Amino acid sequence: MDLKGKVALITGAGRRVGCELALAFAARGAIVAVHYRSSASEAAKLVEQINSAGGKARCFRAELERVAEIERMVADVVMAFGRLDILVNSASIFFRRPIEEVTERDWDMNIATNLKAPFFLAKAVAPTMRRGGAGKVINIGDWAAIKPYNNYLPYTVSKSGLIGLTRALAKALAPEIQVNCVALGPVLAPEEYGAEEIAKMVAGTLVKKMGAPKDVAAAVMFLCEGTDFATGSTLLLDGGRLLA
Ligand SMILES: NC(=O)c1ccc[n+]([C@@H]2O[C@H](COP(=O)([O-])OP(=O)(O)OC[C@H]3O[C@@H](n4cnc5c(N)ncnc54)[C@H](OP(=O)(O)O)[C@@H]3O)[C@@H](O)[C@H]2O)c1
Repeated sequence: MDLKGKVALITGAGRRVGCELALAFAARGAIVAVHYRSSASEAAKLVEQINSAGGKARCFRAELERVAEIERMVADVVMAFGRLDILVNSASIFFRRPIEEVTERDWDMNIATNLKAPFFLAKAVAPTMRRGGAGKVINIGDWAAIKPYNNYLPYTVSKSGLIGLTRALAKALAPEIQVNCVALGPVLAPEEYGAEEIAKMVAGTLVKKMGAPKDVAAAVMFLCEGTDFATGSTLLLDGGRLLA
């Protein structure tokens, strides 16, 4: 897909990986819908950065646990830009919870944000993408979907579900829309991690280094503009973490 003039909705784009993805789409001439929930000032700064560099972007707020907010946001994006061609599901929650401490709310939050929202977002964008004749959905996953982390059970189950969702959506939305997943290893440590925890993450890879958000952007760009032939696939971008 040629990205120039296409509209890309990136969830969780105010900060961190999502922010880098938004900049990468803008650099290729795409119009960017920057989704955020609580990072309003970061999202506004990002939009300002893209617009002042000659690109086109706008912020859209939604609590992704609520399907009604998802549907309203997608309608707002289509109303603002007249089309929607690419959806990147990057927003996610991630927190430690030993199995004895997992509450019903912990379970529901992980599944709602990391699995249910990507489904309802894809469902909401599909009619517009189909009308435009083409579309791309990229789900940002985690290598731990395949080999679960200790003490993150609801999170790892949600990301395992995301791989299944990618395959099911690829079938349901063919032939116009390709749906793929990029399963990440460590690309950006959680903000509360110290040097010791980061060193452990690095030691756990085969390449003995952290990845970077720009690696994620390169993989997403490959799946959006590099090929229209991949669909239902999960690309492991984990520095060999799964094999190590
Ligand atoms: N960072 C890594 O090394 C790594 C490793 C493996 C997988 N991944 C995956 O890569 C993706 C991006 O990672 P990241 O580290 O950049 O993510 P992150 O910082 O943990 O979260 C990204 C954004 O998700 C948004 N979000 C969370 N819950 C939401 C909700 N209920 N409704 C709306 N927005 C919500 C938040 O937006 P607001 O701040 O606006 O509230 C948050 O800033 C995630 O899917 C993650 O699972 C990352």
